[in-house]
Amino acid sequence: MNNFIRSLILVFGMVPAGHALADSTLISSMETLQWEMVAPGVWRTQIGDEQWGALDFASPPRESALTELGPAEFPFDKARCRGDVGPSRTHFRLPIEDTERLYGMGLEFRGANRRGQVYHLKVDHYGGVKGYTHAPVPFYVSSAGYGVLLNTARRPTIHAGISNRKDSKLPPRVDRTTGKGWQARPTSDAVEGSVYGTGLELFVFGGSSPLEAVQRYNLFCGGGVLPPHWGLGFVHRMHTKSSDQDVLKEVAEFEKYDFPLDVLGLEPGWQSAAYPCTFDWDPGRFPDPQGFLDKLAKNGVRVNLWENPFVHPDSTMYEAIRPYTGSHTVWLGEVPDYSLPEARQVMMNHHNKNHLDLGVSGYKFDEVDGFDVWLWPDHATFPSGHDGAQIRQLYGLMLQKLLMDQFRSVNKRTYGLVRGSNAGASSHGFVIYSDYYDHKGYVTALTNCSMAGVLWTPEIRSARSSEEWLRRFQSVAFSPMLQLNAWASGTKPWSFPEVTDQVREVVQLRMRLLPYLYSAFADYQQQGIPPFRAMVLEAGFDGSGTTTGGELDDVENPYAEIQRLEKTDQYMMGPSILVAPAFTGERNKEVVLPNGDWYDFYTGKFVGNGGTISVETQLDRIPLFVKDGGIIPMMPAVNNLATLGTKIPLEVRHYGKQAGTFSLYDDDGETFDYENGEFSVTELRVQKLANGLSGEQGPTIGDWQSRYGAVTWKFMTE
Ligand code: GAL
Repeated sequence: MNNFIRSLILVFGMVPAGHALADSTLISSMETLQWEMVAPGVWRTQIGDEQWGALDFASPPRESALTELGPAEFPFDKARCRGDVGPSRTHFRLPIEDTERLYGMGLEFRGANRRGQVYHLKVDHYGGVKGYTHAPVPFYVSSAGYGVLLNTARRPTIHAGISNRKDSKLPPRVDRTTGKGWQARPTSDAVEGSVYGTGLELFVFGGSSPLEAVQRYNLFCGGGVLPPHWGLGFVHRMHTKSSDQDVLKEVAEFEKYDFPLDVLGLEPGWQSAAYPCTFDWDPGRFPDPQGFLDKLAKNGVRVNLWENPFVHPDSTMYEAIRPYTGSHTVWLGEVPDYSLPEARQVMMNHHNKNHLDLGVSGYKFDEVDGFDVWLWPDHATFPSGHDGAQIRQLYGLMLQKLLMDQFRSVNKRTYGLVRGSNAGASSHGFVIYSDYYDHKGYVTALTNCSMAGVLWTPEIRSARSSEEWLRRFQSVAFSPMLQLNAWASGTKPWSFPEVTDQVREVVQLRMRLLPYLYSAFADYQQQGIPPFRAMVLEAGFDGSGTTTGGELDDVENPYAEIQRLEKTDQYMMGPSILVAPAFTGERNKEVVLPNGDWYDFYTGKFVGNGGTISVETQLDRIPLFVKDGGIIPMMPAVNNLATLGTKIPLEVRHYGKQAGTFSLYDDDGETFDYENGEFSVTELRVQKLANGLSGEQGPTIGDWQSRYGAVTWKFMTE
């Protein structure tokens, strides 16, 4: 519109003939989004300019797996999908139905349902503010069976079914004084969202269920990570002031206490200076890094190094990285711009020479989430030209991609830790952790990570009682990474002697379950199925109303039934185990069961079918339940996974009365050769015969000679 017309409107309040002015307050004035299918069941649209986004740091889509998953319908009315570039923000509007529930929106510590909330997705050290999270993944999943991703480096604001445009479908108006059911947050018929700037890319993932939509999202981001075998073992972290000798003593202590140990984490003090970091070994505490790593390798123990990204002037990579750092420092260290290939190369050269070539197995990347008062300001400038807020939003993701590329270049898998992430991270070998320590919040995060394409560890640091110590060990033993991070207090697994045996037992139970868990991770890698899943990703829990237990009898709260199902203190591990961790002081645990018969993991006894059951907790047992027909391969407990060798005998458990199958996956557990077919899948089958159940091993497919040996079948439910 030219200035003449604008002044006419201002002065006379009129639009000159021939210039019908679009009312920018109406939905119809927004552009209708044009979608292109980019993979089966995946659609993309661009609003405004193409911009830098998280997916630049994801692995390429797993096209064959997406094709195998098959086609899906576009999930909503295309005519109702709108978007526009406004005066300062690019925004979108996608329709939702009244019955839909929304999940996801990154790694959240509270609840499952996201509908009726506003999220300002910003990477931050968890501060309890909605949307401030270690992983502000702008991906949401609908109970109607689709997912939406905003691919951006910016901080999006998402109105998840809240805020009512004047020409949208509005709920009936109720007078608050005389009427009933006035709503402070009237139901809205759309998800609206925006980012600052002139462009936004949106992806829609179709599906016949929320799980299928999540699978498509993960596969589009390269599939899920397959950790090395050792990554699923026990991880222990050393005090920051430890020397090489202290570490060796600690390894001996683990042997003395007959306690599993696969990975030792070194905290900041392995370096010559930390906060900011040199990334160089401290010559006093670690005079001979190669000799030290070799000794640990002989014991089958891997080393993980703590780092934060900020570079100390004494670092041997300081001069090389300096040209590629931003305008501001963090703790007086320089901040590399890892969006630049040159900066990545400097980091890779240094880390290869000083760490990977010596045998370091992975990293714990700290402080990439940060607090505003610690990290660089939003107006910081970086040599790539990206602004400070964008670099921060993607920093943890960029580092994950960089390190993955590095480990891939030497054909070794890694499995480490990171405190900040974003979309597109599913194939990266990193697990998120936090300084936040609420046990229930930890378990909620574990469930929600399945709807963000990330992994989370409810690591243990401390406890006020032996009961809490044991309860926390039980949860972390049933999580993506079994880590004790109690280096600061010096607390050891055996520090609460009254429960040492029970702690050892649950750690051993995890070790025994590794054939099952590793196969669940293979499903993550190949099919995008998260190994740890929120209940809302299970059939019958996804709002489709197929759960028989519990009627919609609460007229006051029409959502009572769906809320009952949106449990975040229980979750699925692999295809058939339901984990319901007990918390300190919890004597009875309410567990909501999906449809079908369910059995107690320990006894094989029937516990229920759908509905809510109340189980009496036992201190030494984490409540675990198995689906009818569930098959669980277990191996002997070992203290170190490197000692396993081949011909590992398997006890294969079957629960319930139904026939079932389990795809037992195996490979070398160390390299990426599985991507070239170097793996094996053996089908374990239970059939119903006239005289009862019978188990057999089906054929093995794949080029890899599986490490598993003789199978003993155990029918848990007689
Ligand atoms: C914290 C981190 C801890 C520990 C510590 C080392 O920020 O969350 O896990 O690594 O730094 O100083």
